[in-house]
Amino acid sequence: MKVEFSYLNRQFKQAGPGEDPRAFYTDLIFNDLKEFIKSGDFTLGRKLEEFEEKFARLIGVKHAVGVNSGTDALILSLKALGIGPGDEVITCAETFIATAGAIAAVGARPVFVDVNAEFTIDAGLIEAAITKKTKALLPVWFTGNAPDLPAILRLGKKYGLPVVEDSCCAIDAAIGGKKAGSFGATGTFSFHPLKNLNVWSDGGLVTTDSGEIAAKLKLLRNHGLKNRDEVEIFGVNSRLDTLQAVVALRLFGDVAKITDARIAVAKKYDEAFSALPGFIDVPKRHDNVRHVFHLYMVRAKERDGLLAHCLEQGIEAKIHYPIPLPYQKCCAQLGYKKGDFPATERDCGSIITLPAHQHLTEAEVQYVIDTVREFYKK
Ligand SMILES: Cc1ncc(COP(=O)(O)O)c(C=O)c1O
Repeated sequence: MKVEFSYLNRQFKQAGPGEDPRAFYTDLIFNDLKEFIKSGDFTLGRKLEEFEEKFARLIGVKHAVGVNSGTDALILSLKALGIGPGDEVITCAETFIATAGAIAAVGARPVFVDVNAEFTIDAGLIEAAITKKTKALLPVWFTGNAPDLPAILRLGKKYGLPVVEDSCCAIDAAIGGKKAGSFGATGTFSFHPLKNLNVWSDGGLVTTDSGEIAAKLKLLRNHGLKNRDEVEIFGVNSRLDTLQAVVALRLFGDVAKITDARIAVAKKYDEAFSALPGFIDVPKRHDNVRHVFHLYMVRAKERDGLLAHCLEQGIEAKIHYPIPLPYQKCCAQLGYKKGDFPATERDCGSIITLPAHQHLTEAEVQYVIDTVREFYKK
């Protein structure tokens, strides 16, 4: 059996003879796109506004500003907060490069903090990393799981530091019903084709309750243009393509369904793998956290062997990520050395990500479970 990591092949399915096209995303989206293209309302169009309004409502914030990627959502958030050269931004050592890359892109210095056992920033280590140059805290909802935002927001308040949430992997995630992207000064989202809500290329968005930040973001994403003729500030072209908003709008109504399907897969994995103590280390789950499992990631004994076994058996398992970010070549000038991030190092040598997308069948989920069990029976 082949179990793919990405669900796009399933999303791209078109109705066959005798099948109802209204049941297939591809047909539905093609029809929406045809209507949209006829409208010619391409740049900052009405459909983008509709998507922004709906997304803001989903997250429970006043404003949502569409930009062209999750990376730009982070970069423009930092710019909107006035962060630049000479500033430091504290973030998590275990994340995708885009988090730290965004800090570097505005000319600031990423300051890394190690993770807890749940792949999110260890909030207890943040205070020691704060200096006079620290200008923001940038926790990550890595894997779709919640960082300890109550503790992080308390620190932010104590030191007067805004919190930017990297909630790129956490669409529809929540703590106690409060959604990812509604805690910080801004929340940032990615609609990359592997995300829980995807577009058919790149896309991103910033959420905020601040009218001032939203207005700044709208300038920054559109060359700083106040109107057609007047430029208020230097900006860039980072508008969320209205065409991609049309794709997102069609999928948007199913966000909760998509998320619930991923959570159900993760629950089955959790139950099965919790019965393999000493082999698979399932992170602690919290009743008040809606972990949306953008990635289903666990620590595994003999990880490289398990990875090879899964791949041989047709399961597209992955490692997110094998090299600690602070030790990447791009971070060399930051001066970190081996031993600085023991938890991240341990994770990089032991984590494995298993396919957990919303279109997996029960048989596929069972096959993944059986394949992992089989490896440890040897
Ligand atoms: C944690 C995190 N932050 C930021 C991003 C950047 O998003 P994008 O690929 O839309 O630029 C990603 C993308 O995978 C991510 O995983």
